[in-house]
This record gives sequence, C-alpha cells and structure tokens, in this order.
Amino acid sequence: MPARSPASLRWAGRAQFDAPQGGRESATVATLKRSRSYGSRAAGESLRGQLIEGDSLPAMRLLGALPEDERPRPKLIYLDPPFNTGEPFAHYRDRYEQSDWLSMMWERLVAAADLLADDGSIWVHCDDRGQAYLRVMLDEILGRDAFIASVVWQRRYSRENRRAIGAVHDYIHVFAPLGKGWKEVRNRLERDDPPNHWSNPDKDPRGPWSSVSLVAQGGHGTEQQYYEIVTPSGRVVAPPPDSCWRVTAEGFDRLVEEKRITFGGGGGNVPRRKVFRSEAKGLVPWTWWTHREVGHNEEARREQRALFPDLPVFPTPKPERLLARVVEIATDEGDLTMDAFLGSGTTAAVSHKLGRRWIGIECEPALIKNYAVPRLRAVVDGESGGISDAARWQGGGSFDLLRCVERGVAGRPKVGELATAA
Ligand SMILES: C[S@@+](CC[C@H](N)C(=O)[O-])C[C@H]1O[C@@H](n2cnc3c(N)ncnc32)[C@H](O)[C@@H]1O
Repeated sequence: MPARSPASLRWAGRAQFDAPQGGRESATVATLKRSRSYGSRAAGESLRGQLIEGDSLPAMRLLGALPEDERPRPKLIYLDPPFNTGEPFAHYRDRYEQSDWLSMMWERLVAAADLLADDGSIWVHCDDRGQAYLRVMLDEILGRDAFIASVVWQRRYSRENRRAIGAVHDYIHVFAPLGKGWKEVRNRLERDDPPNHWSNPDKDPRGPWSSVSLVAQGGHGTEQQYYEIVTPSGRVVAPPPDSCWRVTAEGFDRLVEEKRITFGGGGGNVPRRKVFRSEAKGLVPWTWWTHREVGHNEEARREQRALFPDLPVFPTPKPERLLARVVEIATDEGDLTMDAFLGSGTTAAVSHKLGRRWIGIECEPALIKNYAVPRLRAVVDGESGGISDAARWQGGGSFDLLRCVERGVAGRPKVGELATAA
C-alpha cells in the first residue's frame, strides 16, 4: 500500500487493512465460467465485452491474479457503488453499517487500483455524504499525486425539497497513477462553438478563424511581456493597467510575420491573435458537468423505460451521455473499460457503442438477467436509444456472460475464458 498520503481514514475494521498488503492477503479464490456468448465475433476482439456475474471483489482479484500477459489492464475503471443511502431499493442493497460500507469500498478500490493500466484512470461516483470518505481512501490507495479532479455532476434539474438543503449533484473523483502526466493521455472534449464563431472577413487562405485576446493578468508576467505596440493605423497601445501581453515582444513580432494577428478592419484595434478553425484544439474538460451537457437522472430513467417498458425502472441508472463523457475523456477506441458495479449496464452499453472493449461486473443475478443482458443484446443488435445517434451506432460485436464462482479454497486461481479478454 503506498504510504503517500499524510492523512488516513480510521473506522472499525480498518486495522485489518493496515498490514503491508493492505487487505490483499485475504483473497478468496474464484473461477470464471463462461455461460453464454451473444452476438457475432466477426468484429473480432475490438468490439467485445465480458459481463461477469458475481461479487466484484473476488472477480477483480481473480483477474488481477492472471499471468501478466493475460491480465486485463483497463484504461478506465468507472465505479458507481451503492452510496449507502439507506433507501430500501428493490433491486439492490443500499443499507450498510457505515464501517461495513467503508471496508467494502476499501477492498474494492484496492483491487481496482491493482488492475488499472499504468496510463489509466479510475473514476469513483459518489454523493455528498460519501465523497469525503472516498476521497481520503483514494488518496491513501493511489497517492495524493494521483488526484486529478473531483467532477461535480448536476444530476437533477428540478428542485429537491426533502433535505434541509436539497442535494442536486453528485461527485466523481478522478485519479490517475500518472498524476500530472495524465494530461498528455486524456482526451479533450469536442468544441461546442456557436454557429457564428468562425468567419473569414480577410479571406485568409488558411480558412475561417476566430480571435482571442492577447491580454493576460499582470501578476505572473515577465518583464518581456510589458511593451507598447504600434498598430498599422499608427495608434500606440499598451496592456491595460495590472495586465501584460500574453507573448513577449519577440513572440508578438513572429505572430505578425506569420499574419496571425488582427488589428480589426481599420487597422487600429487592440491586437488579437487569430485562431484558425483547422488548428483549434478541443476543450479541456472541467469539473462542472451540467445536466444540459451530460444528462440527468430523469433522462437515465427515460432511457430505462424505453429499453424495458414492462419492468420496474432500475432505481439509480446513469444517463448514457454522462458515461460517454467519461469514456471519451479517459479512453480511445479499442481501449478496455471496466465497471465493477455495473447495475443496469450503462458503462458497458456506452463503451460498446463507442468502440471500446469492456468488462462489467454485477453481483445481483436478477439485474444481470433482466437488465444488463437484454440491454447489451439490444446494443449488439443496433439499439437506437441513448447515445446511439451521436455515436452513429449501427450494432455489431459480441459479449460473453461469465459467472464468477467463489471457491474459498487456497490455491492459484484457475484461468477462465476471460484470459482472452484483454
Ligand atoms: C448505483 S448502482 C450502479 C448503477 C449503474 N451505474 C447504472 O447506470 O445502471 C450500484 C450497483 O452495484 C451493484 N453492487 C453492489 N455491490 C456489489 C458487489 N460487491 N459486486 C458487484 N456489484 C455490486 C448493485 O447490485 C447495483 O446494481
């Protein structure tokens, strides 16, 4: 266990995880048995999933115990565990002694972190009651340097009046072993420019462009960033008080030479830098995810009702747009994702539609049978809900249903069919 966090969470039951192995030594032994396959393998390994029925702890430990070259190394692990709300959900248990919940989470976070690819990221979804506990745990397990951000997802758009202060958002803690270096791995978001954002008033052969300010806050500027500029019309401009230019005088001259500076139609405006549409990068993700951008709880329920009109709605599904955002930031096509609290199968469905390989683990057999399997079969058959239009999803690929059977006997785990999944 990395001792890289100055803080440590204590609870009844924590002591068992204080040993150097941090709880790993009590691994129970399990086997994976393939029970069925769905879809066609014509698309090969690239469009293929593994749906595992069983407790995620032995399942992840089993995967982690596979030989190095067969071990799945997910680039993304998304975990949406029971929040321990105490609600009597019909579909799964969400009432634990707090210390039992903490132990349950600790062991699964350790097992998940052990599986994660070196350049991967782990995203832990939680509510405002659980988030602080899980944040400290993740600091301990992955190290504080691995903390990337705590995303706030606006899960409701209507008022919430049950509590003294209505809770309308969840948290998603994002950790990556690469720490700051993960910025080079993660993807940016597609730009959402308004229709008139790009134009080409000066018929620049490089195509449509937009302009950005050259003024920056003065506090961090170097001496070379304070200078006067003479515009083509002869006007002399200096940065506003307490500001400087974003580039040095030398850098500015270079931009002028490259015709990347605009002084406006009359040649006398404060200079701005031209940014060409062909060169514009995507948006850097930020921590504020509104329901308009990534959906909300009701949208997720609507997706459920469309998929399962005759079944009671699964109580806590996440909208496909939310998972699409996570999957697209954290992975590229062909990468492997894993969800160890799969529920109705959202992460698996979205991963499949986006061309990622996936592993989904869910402990409730009824959820697998009534929700996850039918949903993923529909996806393979080209189901048109959720993100299907946006992803231009037409169907295809395959998935295996496996059962994780705990043996509870010491010994090396038997390699299941999953050995071929990575
Ligand atoms: C909040 S729900 C996940 C919802 C999911 N993200 C979706 O969109 O449908 C949590 C799920 O974790 C499952 N679960 C709880 N404990 C588990 C365990 N030890 N192993 C595997 N799954 C577990 C529950 O049965 C439940 O389906």
